[in-house]
Amino acid sequence: MAEPGPAVRRRSRPARKRSRAPVQLRAAASPLACKRLSPSVEEASAEPPVWAAGGECTNDSEEDMFGDCDSFYGNDSLLAQVDDMEQVYLQDKDMDIKAAGEFMLGNLQSGTDQRKQSDFSTSENAAGHKVERDDGFQMNENDLIDNKEEPEHREGNTEFPMVSKCDLSKRESLKDHLKSAMTGNAKAQTPLVSKTKQLKEAILSEEICVARKTIESSDDDIGPFYGLPSKVKDLLRQFRGIETLYEWQHDCLTLESLHQRKNLIYSLPTSGGKTLVAEILILQELLCRQKDVLMILPYVAIVQEKVWGLSSFGVELGFLVEEYAGSKGRFPPIKRRIKNSLYIATIEKGHALVNSLIETERIDHLGLVVVDELHMLGEGSRGAVLEMTLAKILYTSKNTQIIGMSATLNNVGDLQKFLQADYYTNNFRPVELKEYIKIRDTIYEVDGKAENGFTFSRLLSFKYSSNLEKADPDHIIALVTEVIPKYSCLIFCPTKKNCENVASMVCKYLNKEFRAHREKEKKDLIKNLKTIGNGSICPVLKHTIPFGIAYHHSGLTNDERKGIEEAYSAGVLCLLACTATLAAGVNLPARRVILRAPYVAREFLKKNQYKQMIGRAGRAGIDSAGESILIVQEKDKQLVQDLVNSPLENCYSNLLPEFTKGIQSLLLSLVGLKIAVTLEEIYSFMCHTLLGVQQQLLSKEKSLLDIIKEGVENLIENGLLKGKISEKDGNSQSILAITQLGKAAYKGSIDLAYCNALYRELKKGLEGLVLESNLHLLYLATPYDMIYNCNPDWMIYLRQFNQLSAAEQRVADIVGVPESFITKKASGQAIRKNVDSAIINRLYLSFVLYTLLKETNVWSVSEKFNMSRGYVQSLLTSAASFASCVLHFCEELEEFWVYKALLTELTKQLTYCVKAELIPLMEVAGVLEARAKQLYNAGYKTLAHLANANPETLVKMIEHLSRRQAKQIVSSAKMLLSEKAEALQEEVDELLRMPADIPGAC
Ligand SMILES: Nc1ncnc2c1ncn2[C@@H]1O[C@H](COP(=O)(O)OP(=O)(O)OP(=O)(O)O)[C@@H](O)[C@H]1O
Ligand SMILES: [Mg+2]
Repeated sequence: MAEPGPAVRRRSRPARKRSRAPVQLRAAASPLACKRLSPSVEEASAEPPVWAAGGECTNDSEEDMFGDCDSFYGNDSLLAQVDDMEQVYLQDKDMDIKAAGEFMLGNLQSGTDQRKQSDFSTSENAAGHKVERDDGFQMNENDLIDNKEEPEHREGNTEFPMVSKCDLSKRESLKDHLKSAMTGNAKAQTPLVSKTKQLKEAILSEEICVARKTIESSDDDIGPFYGLPSKVKDLLRQFRGIETLYEWQHDCLTLESLHQRKNLIYSLPTSGGKTLVAEILILQELLCRQKDVLMILPYVAIVQEKVWGLSSFGVELGFLVEEYAGSKGRFPPIKRRIKNSLYIATIEKGHALVNSLIETERIDHLGLVVVDELHMLGEGSRGAVLEMTLAKILYTSKNTQIIGMSATLNNVGDLQKFLQADYYTNNFRPVELKEYIKIRDTIYEVDGKAENGFTFSRLLSFKYSSNLEKADPDHIIALVTEVIPKYSCLIFCPTKKNCENVASMVCKYLNKEFRAHREKEKKDLIKNLKTIGNGSICPVLKHTIPFGIAYHHSGLTNDERKGIEEAYSAGVLCLLACTATLAAGVNLPARRVILRAPYVAREFLKKNQYKQMIGRAGRAGIDSAGESILIVQEKDKQLVQDLVNSPLENCYSNLLPEFTKGIQSLLLSLVGLKIAVTLEEIYSFMCHTLLGVQQQLLSKEKSLLDIIKEGVENLIENGLLKGKISEKDGNSQSILAITQLGKAAYKGSIDLAYCNALYRELKKGLEGLVLESNLHLLYLATPYDMIYNCNPDWMIYLRQFNQLSAAEQRVADIVGVPESFITKKASGQAIRKNVDSAIINRLYLSFVLYTLLKETNVWSVSEKFNMSRGYVQSLLTSAASFASCVLHFCEELEEFWVYKALLTELTKQLTYCVKAELIPLMEVAGVLEARAKQLYNAGYKTLAHLANANPETLVKMIEHLSRRQAKQIVSSAKMLLSEKAEALQEEVDELLRMPADIPGAC
């Protein structure tokens, strides 16, 4: 199974089959029928993995590819088996309301108490809970928010009262309460607003006002900071350490195209500082033009990081940051009247968001869409989804500006035509990047001017014993010890197993001095990982971390990954052996980047992948130089020469190759959203897609019109569209309409390949859903795309089956896996009866999920099912996401009304497969289970506690928490709380706008 890498993304098909005949939807009777045999995770999942790597495949990843070399642990090395899927927190709407309600009510109740400050004491709170502090003090839960440092807010225990119709007479007073509570708390940092602060706020609002007027009234940018208040400049200095803009950033921001609000594509090398330009444009849109903004980023982890990073700006400048990743995000988004929203979204969520804005006729309020890593347009189903999103915006909202950026673009002309955009490019890179390759013991510099692309640089000096030569024939140790431990180093390895082996091997031969470097912090990291693993720690990590070395790939749990990333950023770890996951995921640059081999899994590197990987070298502001070394075997020399001398890959539309997730899905939603309902209109729309631009290149045999006709007919035959398009009448004016099933499919973002199968299984469930436990429901929510590479262990299958109750065992029978089949399989007997392997695997995975929900421990479940912990976690998050898709699907089909309540609850359970008390804390972007536990144990039990916490106190009370992280947690919590409070305010206002003559209204 391929794992799409952040930059390296997914492994490309060996040869692009542009003219592939469309798959017949009708053939989708079995979910397997119309799907490729081994689809990538990315293609199959409702949303992509968080930090998936390019082209890792399950089997490839289990191999080292380097035989005994690199291998210290050999077969004992912990093996991560499978690719990862999205790792997200799925959000629960109920929790939103409750937490914000608590927050608001708490504030309402504490209105008079606000100034009351108390010292840490041992007194009990209302619930009788005492909270022990690290420093030996005990404190009341409420003290945490009422003490001198965090005095703004007092938590209330009362539920948030729902406003009934009989309460209408009290509306005004409730509204007043809410307003005063929110203004007093949601944005306040200190209860006693100082005069200086008031003054500062007044100046800020005045500046924003002036800037807005400036933008409205003049073509010239005469605002203090690119039309923005000078506070923005201060914040950039404060939060990012950015003193001045690079010259190119200034040039770009003052482009005539931007003044004219034209769409723009800009391209600069990795680390060129592209983000900052986009962020300044975003702030202009939010603050000056008062419109909402959508920022589309490729991976969940990057979305979360950005939400972290921009929340503090939102808190200071008065806009909302809303996360759209995993199951987080509301559709349609809440209409805000006062503040503007910055939606930070993954590609899939961004698409759903745009659909919902078009449907509710609010797309015009989206002033700006920013797409980072624009070259993703050319990458599989996600590229297709991105293309659809942008094409819909271009077609439906002439006033929405589109900005796209990337470091790896080639056929910019096509993209410009598609996006009707101007283009800016520059070769600037703040830290010079030197590219080298190593063949045997010689290092060559990559040199475009040299005849074969390389010039001799130096001989690698090392003294290897014959043993060491055997273990490390490619001299990885010599290469890394030139930089570590003083500087940081990343080694990109082709497979997961190779990462672990390289990390282990390097440690084996490092001298003891490496242990001494930041010893205490490394000990702490091990302790931390042990806590995360409920007492267990991966033996490889336990062995490598004392040397400052770790591996990093999708077999890690989210918490482990975060712990390792943080330690690397802080310099505690100096070497990560990683898969391509790290190429453009989280921002973890290094002094030196080594590519273990020019392969990702078994496929030769693409130029884009290569560029993204080496682009991690050189930290702006820290390193004076960055360097990359690609280790090359003699046999690959020619291929590597071609690689370094070739241009970047072109970006092609994926609407056709990704048939069900691409063009079929687009045609369906065009009609469903009434963007285009006749053949003529659809044709006009399709001409403006990237496919339209590249049609002659991509589909030589069929015209665009033929492609559309075929697609629409297919949708009609499958009962997803209604209408008539026959060759004979050729009536391009006849109006198409969506069926209820079609609507359910696009509302639930269900891959059309599985739509019929899902409908059938849900329908069957209506006849006899086993509700003794959630096993049957879990089966229905198990994502189809996870089942292909699942190879059940039959002994485990039987053991798990035998542990089920009689009623639960019936589930297997109902879905089509007889007990006799499992027994025979487990005892190795031949079986004549043919059972659908998709169903068998799906049931097996639902056993995993069932156990996971019961035990809430990824480690023990991964042991029980002999799967990697990373895979188990991926399955869980993917199931949570799919459950919410199935829920949206059912909401559109009346006959499935009963599933609504059941799936709402199940989604919640899958989303937060943790103890209930941690849920409010895990809603905050970037707070994973381990951190939530720490916070909870330290007494920070609610969102309000976190929002009102003092970062300095957090740093003191929470182990392994840096000041920067503490500030980000507090800002994100503040943002989330204020967003919830605003949402509630909107609901209250909506209620107030209800007609007064409602029956029963007092
Ligand atoms: N004007 C500036 N002064 C100092 N540092 C800056 C400036 N602009 C950006 N940076 C820093 O440079 C680093 C790289 O910037 P950024 O992430 O925007 O690069 P990028 O062009 O998006 O690269 P990639 O293509 O790898 O995503 C960041 O740490 C950022 O804070
Ligand atoms: Mg970037």
